[in-house]
Amino acid sequence: MGRKLKWGILATGGIAESFAKDLAHAKNGEAYAVGSRTLASAEKFAKKFDIPKAHSSYEALAEDPNVDVIYVATPHPFHKENVLTCLRAGKAVLCEKPFTVNARELEELIQFARTNHLFLMEGMWTRFLPVIRKVRAWIETGEIGDVRLVKADFGFKTLWDPEWRLLNPKLGGGALLDTGIYPISFASMVLGPHPEKIMSTADIGETGVDEHFSILLSYPEGKVASLNGAIRLGLTNEATIHGTHGYIQIPSFLNAKKATLHGEGTVKTFQDDRTVSGYQFEAEEVGRLLQEGKLESDLMPLDESFAILQLMDQVRDQWGLRYPFEDN
Ligand SMILES: NC(=O)c1ccc[n+]([C@@H]2O[C@H](COP(=O)([O-])OP(=O)(O)OC[C@H]3O[C@@H](n4cnc5c(N)ncnc54)[C@H](OP(=O)(O)O)[C@@H]3O)[C@@H](O)[C@H]2O)c1
Repeated sequence: MGRKLKWGILATGGIAESFAKDLAHAKNGEAYAVGSRTLASAEKFAKKFDIPKAHSSYEALAEDPNVDVIYVATPHPFHKENVLTCLRAGKAVLCEKPFTVNARELEELIQFARTNHLFLMEGMWTRFLPVIRKVRAWIETGEIGDVRLVKADFGFKTLWDPEWRLLNPKLGGGALLDTGIYPISFASMVLGPHPEKIMSTADIGETGVDEHFSILLSYPEGKVASLNGAIRLGLTNEATIHGTHGYIQIPSFLNAKKATLHGEGTVKTFQDDRTVSGYQFEAEEVGRLLQEGKLESDLMPLDESFAILQLMDQVRDQWGLRYPFEDN
């Protein structure tokens, strides 16, 4: 495919806006259409981001023959249904994090995509940022020796509104699925998706969702990850990777613009001077993979997204946290 990939954006909320804004910076793709539950919202969004086509339903967007790939940006309990709508229409899909609310839902999506030879990827955008790619390269070339410990936190203080999706169990609220997936996915990227032991504790708030949590993961050879997430507490949002010959510090790692490598007697810094959030990098990766005829990403593989959701399921089991829409 020599031309730019035509993107469809499914939903018109907060993250859909951020994605649409950054997509304008993608080298191999452009926003072509948007779909919303209401035409008025689709038209408003299309006008704001100069998108040629506005659809009054998600189904109409999925059926648009000119759309190559769809970005799903609804709250997580709707991801499964919305992704299936797009896959059934034969579209490639990039779905916001967390992919689904539990591993069982994701299994269905993966099976459908693989059976029907369709592209599918979780929008864990952090993985595609230049800083994170550099950090992976530092680790792979042994700059800090053997990695032994990963620490990562992501938390912010949301306003008190029990109906808002972050606090609302009906909308899959809670720190684990919203902020916690970043440190968990980060640890998975560095230490692998299969810890031997998972220890966790959470503060379950008034609305019945986890407002903050701590997780300790232990891996073979004594490797450890210490992770925290919160939606009613501001955290440092830093990630640190400690190895036998140094450590790497990444301030605000989820939208990383800088990383510092502290080796034995050396300090190196990698800086990304981008002026936008950085959602175009995940879009460019999708474009590159589709142009190469690939159906999955090596940087964010489906099996790893699945293992991460299995881990989060186990953590929620430890807390006894189930959502109202999860059947027995
Ligand atoms: N990657 C990131 O940095 C990042 C940041 C924030 C959020 N997220 C993820 O993106 C997803 C959406 O988050 P958001 O903050 O954009 O949410 P939001 O602002 O509440 O927007 C969600 C959109 O989904 C659609 N929707 C469909 N059914 C809905 C329902 N029953 N209730 C509310 N909205 C519904 C609506 O669009 P229409 O009215 O147009 O149909 C709505 O505008 C979540 O899964 C979240 O975890 C990712």
